[in-house]
Amino acid sequence: MQKVLVWDIPTRVFHWLLVSSLLAQYATAEWLENAIQWHFYIGYFTLFLVIFRILWGFVGTQYARFSSFVTGPRKVIRYMKTLFDKDSVPSIGHNPLGGWFVVIMLVLVAVQAISGLFMTDDIFLDGPYRPLADEQTLALMNSLHHLAFDLLLYVITLHIAAVVFYGIYKKQKLVPAMVHGKKVSKTVGITGSRLISALVVALLAAAIVYVAIEVYPPTPEIEEYYY
Ligand code: HEM
Ligand code: HEM
Repeated sequence: MQKVLVWDIPTRVFHWLLVSSLLAQYATAEWLENAIQWHFYIGYFTLFLVIFRILWGFVGTQYARFSSFVTGPRKVIRYMKTLFDKDSVPSIGHNPLGGWFVVIMLVLVAVQAISGLFMTDDIFLDGPYRPLADEQTLALMNSLHHLAFDLLLYVITLHIAAVVFYGIYKKQKLVPAMVHGKKVSKTVGITGSRLISALVVALLAAAIVYVAIEVYPPTPEIEEYYY
């Protein structure tokens, strides 16, 4: 058995930036005073991260692609039956159950970031999509922004618990691979990180966010005062 590259650099950088962004989003909404402008900026960055990862899931390296880890229910059930086997063969990429967790996390973060665009701090700042929506939609987005985060907290807790479970119970250390990218495996790994493709995908994701935030929404009405 040899050490092979499994997680390309873009996927690893994405993962740790996502972790940092979500922590920062929590801090700027809940702990820090007057940080809501930062909450908006980091929210746009988080939206960029999710769009990047979705595109990378189609054009990225082998194990980063959705086609390699989003499987049908039969494979998931078969995998779940081996979940508590201590000597089950480790998956080289995401396992069939973990793959669906990845999808759920990405969907929740996307819902969180998109609903944020409709939020207001009730004092100075309105999300860029506020003028586009009626009262009912705004109320729905507000509920979604709170609900998605509560759900994210549960899912992230389960995600970290799963990583700890694999490390302690199944003796499969998954975290180092998310840092240096390599796993010990009989299966062939990827040959490189395809950084040029990742740069093109990142530019495309940035362009999508720019259009969605700066170009598409109407400029907010400036209240005029007549004396
Ligand atoms: C805000 C918290 C977190 C979020 C939202 C999150 C999200 C994710 C996502 C989306 C993936 C899939 C990566 C990809 O294919 O792009 C992933 C994988 C992974 N995460 Fe996290 N993560 C979080 C925290 C952590 C922490 C704290 C650790 C370490 C203890 C960790 C360890 C891992 C590992 C090892 C994998 C790869 C799992 C595998 O081998 O299949 N994550 N995480
Ligand atoms: C994925 C990214 C995001 C995360 C994780 C996130 C997280 C949160 C959390 C945890 C809260 C506090 C909710 C509560 O009190 O229960 C919050 C509130 C809020 N968020 Fe976000 N958010 C994100 C993106 C955005 C974006 C993009 C915007 C606007 C453009 C935004 C605008 C707001 C506003 C205005 C509030 C209310 C703050 C207040 O109570 O004054 N969020 N967000």
